[in-house]
Amino acid sequence: MKKIGIIGAMELEVDTLKSQMEIKNITAKANMEFYEGSLNGTPVVIVRSGVGKVNAGICVQILADLFSVTHVINTGVAGSLDSRIDIGDIVISADAVYHDVDATIFGYLPGEVPQLGRREFTADPDLVTLAAASCQEANPHLHVFTGRVVSGDQFISDKAEKERIIKTFGGYCTEMEGAAIAHAAVLNAIPFVIIRAISDKADDSAAMAYPEFERKAAQDCARLTAHLVAKIQ
Ligand code: ADE
Repeated sequence: MKKIGIIGAMELEVDTLKSQMEIKNITAKANMEFYEGSLNGTPVVIVRSGVGKVNAGICVQILADLFSVTHVINTGVAGSLDSRIDIGDIVISADAVYHDVDATIFGYLPGEVPQLGRREFTADPDLVTLAAASCQEANPHLHVFTGRVVSGDQFISDKAEKERIIKTFGGYCTEMEGAAIAHAAVLNAIPFVIIRAISDKADDSAAMAYPEFERKAAQDCARLTAHLVAKIQ
């Protein structure tokens, strides 16, 4: 029986979904509230993790241990790393990588956590395909891209830092939780996908753009996530 964990870092990213669900139980743990119930008939646990990698990793572990979720979806906003990807567009993760992990002195790749045996956390191909199809159906006017999500504990709002990230990691968008959610999901063998709507360009214009576009981007992403949940077998 499927049970889908849906994580947004901020209340804005999960409030629409929570208002649409039928709530059976609310569990408080680690400064998070886990809303258990159903979304259009599908069993879900929806939670606001808080911002950043540690919150994100803890959140996935609780979803695994306390709720035995079968899938993890991360919904939210991100800064674009690619000139083709504009504010309002959607990025679906092919994989996720950390941009602020550096053990290169010991021969590891930039972004690679030592002794893990991988740098990239690969999203579940079926979830990726379903997410792309859901987006065409739920948000037909939005452009959808599938590619790398790059994460770190920094809000990127500086052109030089953006260029460094692009040069080192490639990537379609940057945010602050995706790779940690992916990392924890992989360690627990739970299929995952990250879906992000672009709120800014992760450059010197980001501080101005973000507050203006955050809400609409978060809502578009939530609409897509609700659509996706119904498609997962
Ligand atoms: N979330 C939305 N925009 C972001 C940015 N520019 N950097 C990090 N996280 C973000």
